[in-house]
Amino acid sequence: MNMLSNKKIIVIVAGGIAAYKAPEVVRVFKQAGAKVKVVMTKSAAEFTTALALQAVSGDFVHTDLFNDELSSGMGHIELAKWADAIVIAPATANLVSNLAAGRAEDLATSICLATDKNILIAPAMNVQMWENSITQENIKSLKSRDFTFHGPTAGELACGDVGQGRMSDPETFPNAVYKMLKKGIWQGKNVLITAGPTIEPIDPVRFISNHSSGAMGYEIARRSVEVGANVILISGPSVMNPPYECETINVETADQMFEKTFEQINTKIIDIVFCVAAVCDYKPLIYSKEKIKKQGKNLTFELIQNKDILAELCKIKNRPFVVGFAAETENIEDKGLKKFNEKGCDVLATNDVSSYDSGFNSQYNKLLVISRKNKKIIERDYKYNVAKKLIDFVHSEINS
Ligand SMILES: Cc1cc2nc3c(=O)[nH]c(=O)nc-3n(C[C@H](O)[C@H](O)[C@H](O)COP(=O)(O)O)c2cc1C
Repeated sequence: MNMLSNKKIIVIVAGGIAAYKAPEVVRVFKQAGAKVKVVMTKSAAEFTTALALQAVSGDFVHTDLFNDELSSGMGHIELAKWADAIVIAPATANLVSNLAAGRAEDLATSICLATDKNILIAPAMNVQMWENSITQENIKSLKSRDFTFHGPTAGELACGDVGQGRMSDPETFPNAVYKMLKKGIWQGKNVLITAGPTIEPIDPVRFISNHSSGAMGYEIARRSVEVGANVILISGPSVMNPPYECETINVETADQMFEKTFEQINTKIIDIVFCVAAVCDYKPLIYSKEKIKKQGKNLTFELIQNKDILAELCKIKNRPFVVGFAAETENIEDKGLKKFNEKGCDVLATNDVSSYDSGFNSQYNKLLVISRKNKKIIERDYKYNVAKKLIDFVHSEINS
């Protein structure tokens, strides 16, 4: 799979000579698997064309804060929410200065102020502009606010001067974004996530399972990768694509999920485990090797209990930080607290799977999250946003 597979990137093109290289930056991002939307400043149109950028991005190029074609008429907010990362290539001295001052007078600056996503700035300018102490102060201020700088490099500049000020080579951008997205609060942490349903075979064509889609676990995996973790995802059958950077281990039954989880725990240093999988509590006592035929009478199966991965994990001495999930259909808080005390995990996230608009097979979820000292409701939102808030909660619990 490609390095930036399915990552959503906004490329902001500002008005410097290097804007002529912007279509090439867009092209390499697309080649690396990213989805790209382009925003141009007014000045950028003096150096390159919206048509060229539209042709390589395959999408409408956004230029106007007040007359954007996005549905809500709030283009800057929609674009800021859509993106996984924002790249400014080239970034002019003027745009760097506006960002450092927190200005929002056009579409480009408004998006940058309205986003909580990572921003990569690739400056390109004359060497005197670059070395000017005002520019350097602006850069210092932006770096202290977590903006990432890529370049400039040294060499002969468009104006004929020689020195620092050339925009980095377009080919280097995917790697720079990949590295930027890996920076974060869980840099270097090893996170293991179980996700999806398990299936418990009755015979070669039938099984017991549940409605879990895997989406919640996959979004926790995606967010963990974004905040810098090395992620192992142990997944039951799911139609979702795991994040590119995860090591994914596919399993089917609860027994396989148990075995693979403990294989990882026993052979690697795992810092945090999220038990998100909807593991079947029971499996048929007897598996029929042949398809069971209709017998003209009722059929009774004996079911036996599967091993409890979460409970077993919590018994380990010097164990990782363990986050459990509980799917409940009524008395969410009481049942969540009971399960939290029984299992002995560090955090328990309880979700109400009875409601039609969140939980199983939905893009949305809402959680009641319980720890020894804290209790928090994560309100109904897209599962990715819920995953973000859950990871922030877990992070503060680990550091409390
Ligand atoms: C021919 C020409 C080339 C320019 N090249 C650059 C450049 O490479 N880098 C830069 O920071 N500004 C450059 N500028 C100045 C910017 O175009 C100017 O500061 C503009 O306001 C930037 O607008 P923007 O930041 O909204 O895109 C150049 C101006 C002209 C006329």
